[in-house]
Amino acid sequence: MKREDFWYIVAESHELAKNQVISRSLMGEWLAIFRNDEGKISALQDKCLHRTAQISRGKVVEGKLQCPYHGWTYDTDGKVVHIPSMGPTFKPGNKCSKSYEVLEQEDYIYVRLSSENPEVKPFPMPCHKKPGYTTIRLQHSFKNNVTNCAENFVDIPHTTFVHPKIFRDAKHEKFGALIERANGSVKVTYKNEKKNFGWFSWFLNPNGDEIGHTDEFFAPNVTTVNYYFGGKNHFIITSQSVPVNEEETLVYTDLTYNYGIWTWLSRPLVRWQAKVIIGQDVEILDNQMKTIKKYGAHFQNSPADLIHTWIESIQAEIQEGRDPKLLPRKEAEIEFWV
Ligand code: FES
Ligand SMILES: [Fe+2]
Repeated sequence: MKREDFWYIVAESHELAKNQVISRSLMGEWLAIFRNDEGKISALQDKCLHRTAQISRGKVVEGKLQCPYHGWTYDTDGKVVHIPSMGPTFKPGNKCSKSYEVLEQEDYIYVRLSSENPEVKPFPMPCHKKPGYTTIRLQHSFKNNVTNCAENFVDIPHTTFVHPKIFRDAKHEKFGALIERANGSVKVTYKNEKKNFGWFSWFLNPNGDEIGHTDEFFAPNVTTVNYYFGGKNHFIITSQSVPVNEEETLVYTDLTYNYGIWTWLSRPLVRWQAKVIIGQDVEILDNQMKTIKKYGAHFQNSPADLIHTWIESIQAEIQEGRDPKLLPRKEAEIEFWV
């Protein structure tokens, strides 16, 4: 099992209309992704077979992708179906561009670079279009790698420093958590979490209800954060971190929540607030990578970092070509102060 066996988001469905082409980078591979007139999507290596112009700079003509340089034209399987300079004598042969598996799920377009391990499926976005819930979608570019991004999204101790007042205030409270590593994922269940959300509380937990909170990491690039307030309001943050290359990660965030009558009314405010918070994370993670590039990634840990070291153990298995689901199950209790 390797990173290429997994599915990665390359766009939101609405970003690719019929007869349109977009360019994307996934793990350093350049992709020309286009949709034909019937809605079928195709992901080709973004390099013309003729003289290597980027075909994503071309256009889709009658459902086929035409290179901008000399007009060689590709169908959705990547096959060259037209060479203008050969006129009517041209007969399609076996010239075929490299293509990748692509699928659409929950209004996202996914690509994977390998076709091994066909049992691997895209991560199902929780509560997507579930009655009573709404979803706000955001995209942010982080100058850091997938593992450091994912760790940030399930890291509580940073919140009082990077998002003071907004997300959480330092109150010197003791947190307890149960951490489990199983099936290529890490789950953290927090205990005795207090009503400590900075001024974000007015929306997240206006009545000061008891908080249910779990964070999960799913190999190789997904995190979900679930908050339950007073047993009825539910807020989920799902982040899919897509490796553009070794130093850049494009993060697709779904904020999916059910807040009763406030669900729809609060959308602009929730969007704005989330953008402020994620912007703060972008900044600190940019800085982290700047230092990693100069001094290397030599990390030291406190007990609260056990979550991260288990995430890293899963990533290391994939790096070694092994299936992280086969790692032995582990469980631990931790305590830390926020
Ligand atoms: S480079 Fe694409 S048609 Fe010539
Ligand atoms: Fe953060």
